[in-house]
This record gives sequence, C-alpha cells and structure tokens, in this order.
Amino acid sequence: SAELNPALLSLKWLLGAWESDEPGEGTFPSIKPFRYTEKLHFSHVGQPVINFMFNAFNAESNKPLHRECGFIRMQPGTNRVAFIIAQNSGLVEIEEGELTGQQLNLQSEQVARISFAKEPHVQQISRVFKLLSDGRLEQTVSMATDNQPLTQHLHITYRRAS
Ligand code: HEM
Repeated sequence: SAELNPALLSLKWLLGAWESDEPGEGTFPSIKPFRYTEKLHFSHVGQPVINFMFNAFNAESNKPLHRECGFIRMQPGTNRVAFIIAQNSGLVEIEEGELTGQQLNLQSEQVARISFAKEPHVQQISRVFKLLSDGRLEQTVSMATDNQPLTQHLHITYRRAS
C-alpha cells in the first residue's frame, strides 16, 4: 500500500475503518427521532487526498439508509480542511473548516442538489468530528432547511473496526 502523503500526516488519526459502538441518534424538529448504525471508511492511495465512504443503516432492521462518499483535502502548510461530499439523497456539498488537534469543525460552503430532490431542501450543514480520549470517534451534524434554522440532526460515536 502507498505511503501516506506528508500533507495528510495531521489527519492520520482519522484513517481506517470505524463502526458505531452504539446506535446513533437522529433528531430534527420536523421528524420522529430515530436510531441508526453507521460504518465509516477513510483511505488513501498516496495522493494528498483522503477518500471516504459513510454507510448508515436502520438500527432495528439493518436496512441501508443514508450514504455519503467523497474526498478530504488539506490546504498545504495550514490547518484548513475541505470535504467534497456526494450523498445518495441527491445532495452534493463542499464543507470547509479547521483541524484543531484531533477535532475537525466544518461548515458547508456550497450545497447543490438534483432537480427532483425531496423537500424540504437542505440550506446549510455543519459538522464536528472529534477523536475522544478513549480512542472513539464522535460525529455531530447540524443542518438548516427551508423550514428550520441550523439544528442538530445526528450524533454518533464509533470504535475502530478491524
Ligand atoms: C430526515 C438531511 C444524514 C436519516 C432528513 C431530512 C433532511 C435530511 C433534509 C428531512 C427533514 C424534514 O423533513 O424537515 C440529511 C443530511 C444528512 C443526513 C443533509 C447528512 C449531512 C442522515 C443519516 C441518517 C439519516 C446519516 C441515518 C440513517 C434520516 C431519517 C430522516 C431524515 C430517518 C426522517 C425520515 C425521512 O425524512 O427520510 N435528513 N440527513 N440522515 N434523515 Fe437525514
């Protein structure tokens, strides 16, 4: 396997496979709260880019639900990070933000969607990835839609999967 590109050394803690250790919590003012499981995979091929896939499932039925995939880049010589993301719902987004220690704080800079995307439309997304002191990874996602201001939609923790 390729050697890690030096541009990604500060994101090394994110690489590999992760699996929710307990079901994540989905909430939003306009929906019924739900529980989900999720698998994350972050890999590289030697380029200054991380490739990722996030696959979420209904916690009870195990039915596949939300999926995202994309790329992560860092601006050389800075702590500036960009996520380039495609979602199975027909949404694509650019999120940018900063790496502080082993925490990523991201805000959507661009959001676009297919012409027949379900309403309400997503207007803004913010998320935080944090490596916890016990080695677990935490992701928190908030979103704003046509009808709601920026409000938490997802919270989940993962452990390393082998
Ligand atoms: C609902 C967006 C990730 C499961 C929704 C809604 C939106 C949305 C706009 C409808 C809200 C409304 O009706 O007011 C997003 C975005 C995500 C994301 C932008 C990622 C950044 C996930 C993930 C899951 C999930 C990872 C895990 C299974 C659901 C469920 C509902 C929902 C079950 C309620 C039923 C439905 O409308 O399908 N989401 N979502 N979402 N989301 Fe997400």
